[in-house]
Amino acid sequence: MAQFREYEIGARVFFDGTPYEVVERANTRWGSPTYRVRELGGEVKRWLPPPLLEKKSKILDKSGVRAFVERFYAKVAEDGLLGPVFERRIHGEWGPHLDTMVLFWSAVLLREMNYRGSPPAAHRAIEELEPKMFKRWLELFHETMHELFEAPLADSLYERAARIAHMLSANVLGQPFTELLEA
Ligand code: HEM
Repeated sequence: MAQFREYEIGARVFFDGTPYEVVERANTRWGSPTYRVRELGGEVKRWLPPPLLEKKSKILDKSGVRAFVERFYAKVAEDGLLGPVFERRIHGEWGPHLDTMVLFWSAVLLREMNYRGSPPAAHRAIEELEPKMFKRWLELFHETMHELFEAPLADSLYERAARIAHMLSANVLGQPFTELLEA
């Protein structure tokens, strides 16, 4: 029996590069749940395909954000370049950082605006930050997204992260890291 994911009315999901809110639930003629969603801040409504639990997901919701954050930072913690930067600051206490990152990505992707921090300020405080760390960070992000999500969703999440990483490095290092790496 196929397993289907359930969404509550009002849940936020990210699909086809756009955040939506679940507004209606119905059953397909095969009995599987399907959901109508409305684009956030707009009037466009559409039906989502029934989201299967087992496969790589086409749709991102809050539990998907938690899953990718946990998987991504498990890789970061083990990485020879990035792991020590975190270890010096969070000393193995990943819980609060993961919670902050779930809030950050839920704000960026699902427009749940509960993140109250400043990434530029947080990263300016990391003296050892280097351009090659941004490159590595994005490689791990790309790998994680493609492990968990179907390619179009994985690519749109990666592109969003890459844009933020470029802005962050321009702000913290003075230039986008790609230009610094080429110099
Ligand atoms: C270049 C590689 C990077 C390194 C080594 C790095 C490292 C860190 C560290 C050590 C912290 C502080 C953790 C703590 O004290 O709790 C942090 C916080 C954070 N990082 Fe990064 N980071 C990197 C890139 C990025 C990128 C590309 C993004 C976004 C796409 C990002 C988003 C954040 C956010 C949102 C926070 C929380 C800031 C706050 O306290 O509100 N980081 N990062």
